[in-house]
Amino acid sequence: EAASRLWHITVRQDLPTYSLDDVQKHNAPEQGIWITFGLGVYDVTEFVPNHPGGDKIMMAAGSAIDSFWAIYQQHNTLEVLELLEGFRIGNLQKDAVAANVEEELGSPWAQEPKRNALLKPASERPFNAETPLALLGEHFYTPNELFYVRNHLPVPVIQAEQYELELDVEAGAAAGQPTRTLTLAELKALPKHSVTAAIMCGGNRRSEMTRVKPVKGLSWGPGAVGNAKWSGARLCDVLQAMGVQPNEDLHVLFEGADLDPTSHPYGASIPLSKALDPRGDVVLAYEMNEEPLNRDHGYPIRVIVPGSVGARNVKWLTRIIVADHESDSHWQQNDYKGFSPSTDWDTVDFKKAQAIQAMPVTSAICTPLPNERVKPDAEGFITVRGYAWSGGGRRIERVDLTSDGGKSWHVAQLEQETVPDGRHYGWSLWTARLPLSAEQRKQEGLEIWAKAVDSAYNVQPEAFEHIWNLRGVLANAYHKVPVKLS
Ligand code: MTE
Repeated sequence: EAASRLWHITVRQDLPTYSLDDVQKHNAPEQGIWITFGLGVYDVTEFVPNHPGGDKIMMAAGSAIDSFWAIYQQHNTLEVLELLEGFRIGNLQKDAVAANVEEELGSPWAQEPKRNALLKPASERPFNAETPLALLGEHFYTPNELFYVRNHLPVPVIQAEQYELELDVEAGAAAGQPTRTLTLAELKALPKHSVTAAIMCGGNRRSEMTRVKPVKGLSWGPGAVGNAKWSGARLCDVLQAMGVQPNEDLHVLFEGADLDPTSHPYGASIPLSKALDPRGDVVLAYEMNEEPLNRDHGYPIRVIVPGSVGARNVKWLTRIIVADHESDSHWQQNDYKGFSPSTDWDTVDFKKAQAIQAMPVTSAICTPLPNERVKPDAEGFITVRGYAWSGGGRRIERVDLTSDGGKSWHVAQLEQETVPDGRHYGWSLWTARLPLSAEQRKQEGLEIWAKAVDSAYNVQPEAFEHIWNLRGVLANAYHKVPVKLS
């Protein structure tokens, strides 16, 4: 047994050696499907069509399965390892294994954290990556290492023992008091509060909007979102302890430890009314899904502003200011705002638009993937899964699906937390069985559409044409996924 467990890290002298390039070329049934595990190169072309998770293996086609197996631990059995070794065709070139380890001391990127290889990068520096769609719909709580990452700058290095959060009240009844600081231990000593909240980037699904007309921004698919249980101290407790009183004219500004080249920190703000509202559930989080935050997600402290656009959830939080104005950061003033489809870069005036806070209702189909071949079951149904979410604490009321361009609709089954509406910050996962007519089953393919309805009966718009905006934010039109039929 011990020997079998070592096969994939043992060079097999009887087999040829392949480079990463050789492996990458074998990423589709036509060329053969190769994968690597440790040092081993395996040809799994024949195996994939018969494996229950064939679509998942295809995500690793032409590359390494190591990070998949780190999640799907059930593969770590003697039986599976033996089966895999049966497909072994070679060894991976040694330097290919080492090529991933890059040393760049002195660069601002030298201390970036290690990331899970399954994250799909939209950019490497700064690191921005989404969760693969097929995995996103599988976990109600997105695993921390698969949670999408949106960084505007290099990840700062913060030692927990040296961490301090600075608190300033510049406006309102409690203004003028000296700056206070809280250490990590002091924050942890405050009453601990947990909230399930989805975080979604303002540009999630931007790549679909781009098809109407180009927009500026990272080309995100529908995977720039995740759902987690966040725990920490409540911001309302911290502010109340400082004597901050309700005031509709004030804002709470947040600064991160990540600095831009002009030494300005990443920053954003929210209305004081949201921060002070106990039902707003704003937390200074040190835990994500019951584990300490990891570096990409804001270690040691980030603010979670449930129901609001991702940009307001400032990571590596170093300073909180109560003020009579919004944050003057680029990300509050000149980004993450919506405009009319007719506004272009010549006419845009960022000062005239409100910064996005609560996000509109949206949904996306996670499986099947676009252009995937699907087989109706014996009764002629196909199963579709996805997520839905609405900002501002609005619960998802319904998700409707159609496979015939809206002639008939089918209501999905929801998986969601039982939390009062108005405070329903987590997402809903959904599953629908879509019946296909005899006529449809003869077709080569069809398009599945999903739309969600929230508790205020807000519904997703049908087409991107009418919500197009030059920054490609708030991209929440129906999610339309073409599939092939077998
Ligand atoms: N906070 C800091 N300090 N720096 C950042 O670049 N990005 C923001 C927000 N908080 C950002 C930040 C944006 S735009 C989003 S969408 C979320 O963090 C992403 O959070 P995540 O990387 O934990 O998924």
